[in-house]
Amino acid sequence: MRRFLLAGAAISAMATSTALAEESVEVLHWWTSGGEAAALGVLKENLAAKGVAWKDMPVAGGSGVQAMTALRARVTAGDPPTAVQMLGFDIKDWAEMGVLGNLDDLATEQGWDKVVPAALQDFSKFDGHWIAAPVNVHSTNWLWINKVALDKAGGKPPENIDEFFAMLDNFKEQGITPLAHGGQPWQDGTLWEALVLSEGGMDFYKKAVIEADPAALSGDTMRKVFDDLTKLRGYFDDSFSGRDWNLSSAMVIEGKAGAQQMGDWAKGEFLRAGKKPGADFVCIRFPGTQGDVLFNSDQFVMFDLGDAEKRDAQLKMAAAVEDPAFQVAFNTVKGSVPARTDVPDTEFDDCGKKGMKDLAEAATSGTLAGSLAHGHAQPSAVKEAIFDVVTQQLNGQITTDEALKRLPEAVAAAK
Ligand code: GAL
Repeated sequence: MRRFLLAGAAISAMATSTALAEESVEVLHWWTSGGEAAALGVLKENLAAKGVAWKDMPVAGGSGVQAMTALRARVTAGDPPTAVQMLGFDIKDWAEMGVLGNLDDLATEQGWDKVVPAALQDFSKFDGHWIAAPVNVHSTNWLWINKVALDKAGGKPPENIDEFFAMLDNFKEQGITPLAHGGQPWQDGTLWEALVLSEGGMDFYKKAVIEADPAALSGDTMRKVFDDLTKLRGYFDDSFSGRDWNLSSAMVIEGKAGAQQMGDWAKGEFLRAGKKPGADFVCIRFPGTQGDVLFNSDQFVMFDLGDAEKRDAQLKMAAAVEDPAFQVAFNTVKGSVPARTDVPDTEFDDCGKKGMKDLAEAATSGTLAGSLAHGHAQPSAVKEAIFDVVTQQLNGQITTDEALKRLPEAVAAAK
């Protein structure tokens, strides 16, 4: 009897390990900062509970530029990962190549059509078929302010660009770095797009960035944007060049800097450091952009690997991601808001509640548009052409006049 039981235990142990070996996902992503990794941990644990093992393929680099280079190398080598974090137009590009798995059956079973916002579905579907599972909705036109520094500056968050500069002047007088910025092309682009929205409003953003209208890209409003950039550079510290975004967040968290313009993934860093919105830091829409939302949505695409077991694990992962309870657990840590419209905001902090409300209102009032810097306004080639001009102007390598001349030219050449 005892021998029989032992044999039984051995067989079931074998069965478990076989199941674990079969059910696994290799996930390529760029969530490597403290806050991002904490959010990813929520997904890893969720999948582990479902018997799906996680093989991590992290490629550091905000906004995923380096991750996309790594992906191209893997696909070229004939060995794509199981699942890949991806943004907007990159999803469309890979879908066009016909290499992504179809998620229609799962989407029907879970009713994705009814709950995923239309703006996201534009990127999650290709030719009417679901090819990506949206995890979240981020937004880029935010400003993160150290509460102590703001209180010393009078306590009133800036509502327009003039008030923003006045606050930065006060931070300078306090002896801290007024604006924590990381000089990397995608971060320069994130700041630039917030300024485009602030100086021109949503209609101008759509004209200049979504339609890439040459007159809007080179006119007077764009001149103001570049003048603002030049002025803002005077509020950075000496070591801004090349700095990762999360290190800039840390400067604000530690009170070494007053504010950071960044997408709401920055909130993940504040939370990770034990900071509370309203008490330790303040989240506001970038001055002059209240009511407008520039969004980006992280989605997971599943490469078509022609392997039934891998596909089963892929579907389990996609199903887990769209689960309403997971949407709450993940997004409250990540700083983003749910990719479904039917998730209550109860568990979210005030910044999250504001993010959800702003998104819903912007979607109905036409003041919602894709973020350029995070892949939701233009294909990568155009995005990078714009980054080039913006980064060079911000670093004083070209003048504003040159930037205004080159911007429409660079965009046209990249199209
Ligand atoms: C964005 C991405 C976010 C966050 C950020 C910085 O493109 O959507 O989830 O990771 O980059 O890495």
